[in-house]
Amino acid sequence: MVMFGRRSTGDAASTAVSQPATVQPAVPANDASKPAAASSANKAAEDRLKPVSLPSDSDAGSNKVSAEASTTKDKIYTLLMEQIDLSTASRLPREDLKRQIIDIIGEIVMEQKLLLNQVEQQQLANQIVDDMLGLGPLEPLLQDESITDIMVNGASQVYVERKGKLTLTDIKFRDNQHVMSIAQRIVTAVGRRVDESSPICDARLMDGSRVNVIAPPLAIRGCSISIRKFSKKKITLDIMAAQGNISENVCKVLKIAGAVRLNIIISGGTGSGKTTLLNALSQLIDHGERIVTIEDAAELQLQQPHVVPLETRPANLEGEGEINMRDLVKNALRMRPDRIILGEVRGPEAMDMLQAMNTGHDGSMGTLHANTPREALTRLENMVGMAGINLPSKAVRTQITSAVNLIVQISRMRDGVRRITHVTELVGMEGDVIVTQDLFHFEFQGEDDKGRLIGEFKSTGLRPHFIHTAAYFGLDKALLEAM
Ligand SMILES: Nc1ncnc2c1ncn2[C@@H]1O[C@H](COP(=O)(O)OP(=O)(O)O)[C@@H](O)[C@H]1O
Ligand SMILES: [Mg+2]
Repeated sequence: MVMFGRRSTGDAASTAVSQPATVQPAVPANDASKPAAASSANKAAEDRLKPVSLPSDSDAGSNKVSAEASTTKDKIYTLLMEQIDLSTASRLPREDLKRQIIDIIGEIVMEQKLLLNQVEQQQLANQIVDDMLGLGPLEPLLQDESITDIMVNGASQVYVERKGKLTLTDIKFRDNQHVMSIAQRIVTAVGRRVDESSPICDARLMDGSRVNVIAPPLAIRGCSISIRKFSKKKITLDIMAAQGNISENVCKVLKIAGAVRLNIIISGGTGSGKTTLLNALSQLIDHGERIVTIEDAAELQLQQPHVVPLETRPANLEGEGEINMRDLVKNALRMRPDRIILGEVRGPEAMDMLQAMNTGHDGSMGTLHANTPREALTRLENMVGMAGINLPSKAVRTQITSAVNLIVQISRMRDGVRRITHVTELVGMEGDVIVTQDLFHFEFQGEDDKGRLIGEFKSTGLRPHFIHTAAYFGLDKALLEAM
């Protein structure tokens, strides 16, 4: 029987290698620090595939790792790696590779008279394949659709979020190096790097999930990986209304606000659902429009046919080649966009965003981090200040007022449910102060017996400032009805 993924080792650790496969020097594959003495093409494949280290037992669900069992596994692992031709294995479909690995494990167990039952052999094969082709101990979490966020805090603490609630898992990495290797694998796939000299990195998984890595020495307890999983389930405004994130009327007003091309800022804390809401709002954009999206790590999922997604680029090893949000917003203005959408406004690009909003790119949107609509305005002002153009604050506020029409505040409340707490309009200036008016706010009333918060999305009953714009689009009546 010839195994495709197998290499001929010369010192036949196994008698089952019936045919000398492509001759390759045996590499002690468990020693990840030693470079493989193979051809460069093979080396690349091997580097990509090199299992980072054997995951600990707890990934398989059992918490008790007897030292003996783990040495048995280490031994099998070492012998197995001697027999696998990593460059060939890289081309095998996962299931084929797994089947071959199970076979080889079976042989090793027999030859070496090791104690490992069928189930344990299967588990070991799974772990090895996960480590070779995927993200090691994180694989089962990535497969689990009920998990929305994965948070790795060093080697021995992995939290997940399900339905807005955090829980600790029993997943463990072998050591910090194991975590680092997985982090490295994630970021190199998108052409970035993470190490002691550049310990912070944003990246994205192939499926669109967003990843942040922060490594020691900045992360004191070991490499931390935060994954915001790409949600296959599209959350639309209607779904949000059905889930109680917003009321029917808030839903209607937001739809109208999008349709009449208001410039909208979504404000909220981390994980409050800003990006999700931005996605939901942008789903309503007409398919005839040209949209340019600008993000640090692309996570918007616009369905329109005419979208140009742009992503920033960090500096290279020599500190050169950085393209930041500002550069991209400036460039976007030269691309004849109908709307510009900024994933997250964090810095001086706020200035360019306001300029875009003020120069005929109505219907532009962005998110920023703030806890109230007022705070969002202050934040915006501060970020404009970062652009280094010394404008008096009144001038900045005037510019904000004429650029931004609506602030939508979203919050992840203590019951894990995201709710829009404010829909706030900017109506003008009074002296030095920006005047706003709330159209809706969420009024907290109590808690039901299941711990879910009770409250009401209250309309303030005010006449929306954008009623004239709505009238221009023939939506004024609908707007007043929803208030
Ligand atoms: N309305 C919602 N209903 C259910 N899950 C949501 C909702 N909004 C956001 N989420 C989930 O919460 C997580 C954080 O959402 P995201 O929009 O990325 O937050 P932010 O951009 O504010 O950091 C995601 O996993 C997302 O799927
Ligand atoms: Mg976001």
